[in-house]
Amino acid sequence: MTTFSFVLPDVIADPYPHYQRIRAEEPVYWDEVMQGFMVLRYDDVAALFRDPRSSAARLQSGLALLPPAERDRIAPLYQSLSRWVLFLEGAAHTRLRPLVAGGFLPRIVKAMRPSVERVVDELLEPIRASRRMDAIRDLAYPLPAIVIAEVLGVPPAERDRFKGWSLALADFFGAGRPTPATALRAQAAVVELEAYMKGIIADHRAQPRDDLLSAFLGADESGQRLTEKEILSTCAMLLFAGHETTTNLIGNGLLALLRHPDELARLRADRSLLGSALEELLRYDAPVQVTTRVVLEDLEVAGCRVPAGKRLALCMGSANRDPAQFEDPDRLDLGRRDNRHLSFGLGGHFCLGAPLARLEAEVAFSAVLDRMPELRLAGETPRFRPNAGLRGLESLPVVF
Ligand code: HEM
Repeated sequence: MTTFSFVLPDVIADPYPHYQRIRAEEPVYWDEVMQGFMVLRYDDVAALFRDPRSSAARLQSGLALLPPAERDRIAPLYQSLSRWVLFLEGAAHTRLRPLVAGGFLPRIVKAMRPSVERVVDELLEPIRASRRMDAIRDLAYPLPAIVIAEVLGVPPAERDRFKGWSLALADFFGAGRPTPATALRAQAAVVELEAYMKGIIADHRAQPRDDLLSAFLGADESGQRLTEKEILSTCAMLLFAGHETTTNLIGNGLLALLRHPDELARLRADRSLLGSALEELLRYDAPVQVTTRVVLEDLEVAGCRVPAGKRLALCMGSANRDPAQFEDPDRLDLGRRDNRHLSFGLGGHFCLGAPLARLEAEVAFSAVLDRMPELRLAGETPRFRPNAGLRGLESLPVVF
């Protein structure tokens, strides 16, 4: 019987030796915190991402973990979440996904580059002279929040509200299981954000542009379009899906480079490695460690019976370090080839924001490499936030 738990401090600090042990001993086990069967091997996680019996329509099974009286109090939250493409399957997902994907067409993401570069410049300018920064507070945390705010047409004065909403959503979803307090805070965030976005959407309707929000307002080739409610809920989803995930890629990636000075020097000497380096950093310390599914029919996974109705926790953090898939999986190799990590998921729900996340990380890492020679950790051991699903640092003080 596995006693491992995501919330133990030494697991938060470094889950990988734990995954390694359990993957060998009990590759599928019941996890009390997640209230689901945790799946640790690469092949099993990949297969379940594609298996129609393992459904992403897991909203009800997740909220069922709350006491019944509390569930009634979060009806507005439930209504918004039930329109998130992340939680839909079948015809509803097939209809919604291409409409949301329309906001991430290569042309639209490419047009975001100058704005991402400007935001990175603005963030790094104030710390240029001091030659030190907290890479989370000063770069990795604000960058994706500001980029999403800009992408959604939110003016700079409102950015702090945006960050607060994002934090409430991350605490609710990342904690493994919801609590009444995190659910109510997430609800307040979603309600406020949707109310706020109404004005911005009206503005875009009156004056369409070539951007993500205008793409959401338009119809696709077959004449389908998002309803006003779907657009509002999708905006809330993008803030959740695109903020801390990207923060964690930049923060965890920077920490991995600082802990592997030879690899950092290799990248400085050969910048053509940046593309494979980003994929390796995504694999090595996955920003999203685990995602959930609900089982529609009895299943057997790695010899373990998983009854219909139970939750699955697919652990990409473990799958990405599985020696059956990756040679020398605990080694950071910025030139790694054939790197089929699962950090963006797989199959029908594969991350729609992956091109934007890669763009932001590329611009951020390029700026760090260009402007911060002799970059090193500033003493203290960096601490990870106690969040089971979203693995990211509280702070990362560096000097250069
Ligand atoms: C490094 C950063 C990111 C990581 C690691 C990440 C990871 C993921 C993962 C694992 C999934 C699949 C979840 C599942 O199947 O249960 C997903 C889905 C999704 N992501 Fe990302 N994501 C990142 C950035 C972004 C950004 C920047 C956006 C947009 C602003 C975004 C938007 C989405 C959307 C819309 C989906 C749902 C797709 C669907 O369900 O059909 N993500 N992401």
